[in-house]
Amino acid sequence: MIPAHYSPRPRPAELIADILPPAVAAAESTGKAPRTGFGLFPAEEAALRTAGPGRRAEFAAGRLCARAALAGLGVPATPILPGPAGQPQWPAGVTGSITHCAGYQACAVALAADVAAIGIDAEPHQELPATLIEAVATRPERAWIRQQAACVPAGCWDRLLFSAKESVAKLWYPLTAQWLSFHDVAVCLADTGTFSARLPSGPGWASGDLPEGRMMGRWLIRDGLILTAITLRCGGLATSSRAGTLAGLLRRQNELRTRRSTARFS
Ligand SMILES: CC(C)(COP(=O)(O)OP(=O)(O)OC[C@H]1O[C@@H](n2cnc3c(N)ncnc32)[C@H](O)[C@@H]1OP(=O)(O)O)[C@@H](O)C(=O)NCCC(=O)NCCS
Repeated sequence: MIPAHYSPRPRPAELIADILPPAVAAAESTGKAPRTGFGLFPAEEAALRTAGPGRRAEFAAGRLCARAALAGLGVPATPILPGPAGQPQWPAGVTGSITHCAGYQACAVALAADVAAIGIDAEPHQELPATLIEAVATRPERAWIRQQAACVPAGCWDRLLFSAKESVAKLWYPLTAQWLSFHDVAVCLADTGTFSARLPSGPGWASGDLPEGRMMGRWLIRDGLILTAITLRCGGLATSSRAGTLAGLLRRQNELRTRRSTARFS
């Protein structure tokens, strides 16, 4: 189902904004992504050289949302090229995330001085194919899905869990250049519309480097969509003397971004 306020043109977000903190600017569009009139930069067009029409349309719809979201931060339009793993490469001093699914496209951005990383994900409010659940959910998460389904059968709790993990992966990759596997992340969803994510220790980071409350996830089911968002706030990261921990990595990344951002906005 497509929301009543259908508009393929990007506009300040209503749906995803509900689950993002105030420091984040977001834009969204609804309905089928238009197949013409993209307004992409030549470098973005070049990145789409081999893409088919559907992929071009979703890419362009995401980029149009990105420009509208960046305008909300006062950042002028600029090419947002995909990095080697597909991650959007934001202007200096900015972090963000893009999502698209049938009938919905959105982008959320923030100044890197406020927010270290963002992951957002949109999914249709439909059950996951049954064959996927074991790959996506740990045993306790499958138990939670069964329990939720017994209480609220209309909710697609398996897809919600999947979406939360996709959001976490999109937050995590730009920070660490590491893809997580679904079983690396334990997600705990609360009925109040929040979720937390427990990440593993691994090469280059330690889960203890992320103090409780620093990473905040929220979810929403509305208008036939599942939306999830997770942000990692800057500041107050645990200090660690070990070189190469996530805290150190984030500190170095933020210092670099702040230096670049000062150069860009001064
Ligand atoms: C990349 C991936 C996360 C995209 O999620 P999706 O639900 O399929 O699609 P969405 O429309 O929500 O998101 C696509 C956008 O994610 C962004 N994205 C792609 N790769 C990314 C990465 N490495 N890091 C951060 N964002 C990325 C891009 O902006 C992309 O849109 P664009 O190519 O038009 O710019 C997913 O396809 C994937 O490959 N996941 C790997 C498996 C995984 O790690 N899952 C979670 C385990 S916890």
